[in-house]
Amino acid sequence: MPDTHIVTLSRHVVEQERLYPQATGQFTNILFDLALAAKVIAREVNKAGIVDILGRTDTVNVHGESVQKLDEYADLVILNAMDHTGNLCCLGSEEHEEVIPIPARFPTGEYALLYDPLDGSSNIDVNVSIGTIFSIHRKVSSGPRGGLEDCLQPGRKQVAAGYVVYGSSTMLVYTSGAGVHGFTLDPSIGEFVLSHESITLPDPPKPIYSVNEGYAPYWSEGQKALVAELKGDHTGRYIGSLVADFHRTLLRGGLFMYPADQRQPEGKLRLLYEAAPLAFIAEQAGGRASTGQIDIMDVQPTSLHQRTPLYMGSSRLVDVAERHLAGDSGA
Ligand code: AHG
Ligand code: MN
Ligand code: MN
Repeated sequence: MPDTHIVTLSRHVVEQERLYPQATGQFTNILFDLALAAKVIAREVNKAGIVDILGRTDTVNVHGESVQKLDEYADLVILNAMDHTGNLCCLGSEEHEEVIPIPARFPTGEYALLYDPLDGSSNIDVNVSIGTIFSIHRKVSSGPRGGLEDCLQPGRKQVAAGYVVYGSSTMLVYTSGAGVHGFTLDPSIGEFVLSHESITLPDPPKPIYSVNEGYAPYWSEGQKALVAELKGDHTGRYIGSLVADFHRTLLRGGLFMYPADQRQPEGKLRLLYEAAPLAFIAEQAGGRASTGQIDIMDVQPTSLHQRTPLYMGSSRLVDVAERHLAGDSGA
């Protein structure tokens, strides 16, 4: 007899919202809208080889990176799903240099959404797992329509955070501060169904470390000593899609690293819509996320696209990383 106790994302979010009597329902609707956007993106990702959505556009984003068609598509899907609902005061996207205001013809709401519409773009054309990452903050600005001040909040202030991984299955993983919960998309009913309730990093962790060793010649002495300590009794795994590398770390344990180096003294990954949302999830799952010096969640942002070094995963391994990096005078 097939299971009839299906817990959909919608049901789970409503039940979570009941934990917060002061909740207005706006937050719940934001997650519903994100889930819809994720289903639309998943549909295109799953047939990307068939429809003309692979490859590059002829544009370059604010980071000087060539924009993939799917980056642009995913960004527009999220924008069009979220800009008119009256739940958001503004949005911050990897693909837009400035904060995206809510169009004047639409009402605004009490939350700001930061997002990486398509993470792991370099892997799209070779059919390797990619993802979407999101971070939700409360509006803090006094103005009616929100802006940069609502986006430049430390990770500790997040109301919720999550990601979608478009892999062998499409999963949405989120936290709203009451644990980490994973939902797998059942295409036959078009619903995200609870498949991983209350995810916690395994302890002891699987001995896995994850870093792009191609950049080892540019690493600091501390970084080199850290990886040297891990080699031998840890296995190396690096997918090159942050969402996929993080998802494996969340389920298996281990340490994901994207260090600062002589080429990228601030690191490569962006604080607001890559490191901070995943740091919230890591902490809620019993792990940690650090810049190598301080918790990611305590960094006070100063610009929308600022980068940060990132060490994330099993607490004990993040502690080991900080010990090696403490003596660093930078990359
Ligand atoms: P995005 O596709 O959103 O620009 O993110 C790519 C990031 C991240 O997904 C991954 O961890 C990292 O780039 C891989 O960088 P390297 O290729 O330098 O290892
Ligand atoms: Mn990314
Ligand atoms: Mn991206």
